[in-house]
Amino acid sequence: MLIEAIDHIGIAVKNLNEAIGVYRDVLGFRLEGVHTLKERKVKVAFFSAGDESRIELQEPLGGDSPVAKFLETRGEGIQHLAVKVKDIEAVLEDFKKKGVTLIDEKPKSGAGGSRIAFIHPKSTHGVLLELVEKP
Ligand code: CO
Repeated sequence: MLIEAIDHIGIAVKNLNEAIGVYRDVLGFRLEGVHTLKERKVKVAFFSAGDESRIELQEPLGGDSPVAKFLETRGEGIQHLAVKVKDIEAVLEDFKKKGVTLIDEKPKSGAGGSRIAFIHPKSTHGVLLELVEKP
């Protein structure tokens, strides 16, 4: 089994500080940390959703961020589903062999020292899928 668990759900927001206020103070999720991911051009906030699962709010940094494009066409809301894997290279290799369309052929650096890669929604029935390998 290459996929171990659902790691987090990514939500696109226009204003991260405002959204943090809602998720922490109104909805009661515990804020774990805020990170700037330069490579992905987003500022993100991770919240614990119990056990190992989390919610990731993402605000785009600049108009060329993929999240900015998402907000423009779809508005705020669920943007991706992230699954935890043990060996991200092995999963990418396996998917590639099976003809899955990869957005990232090689892992990029994610929050908290993790390595991540995105899979194109056209290979997943419309869901942007993120692979996450924890350090
Ligand atoms: Co994510």
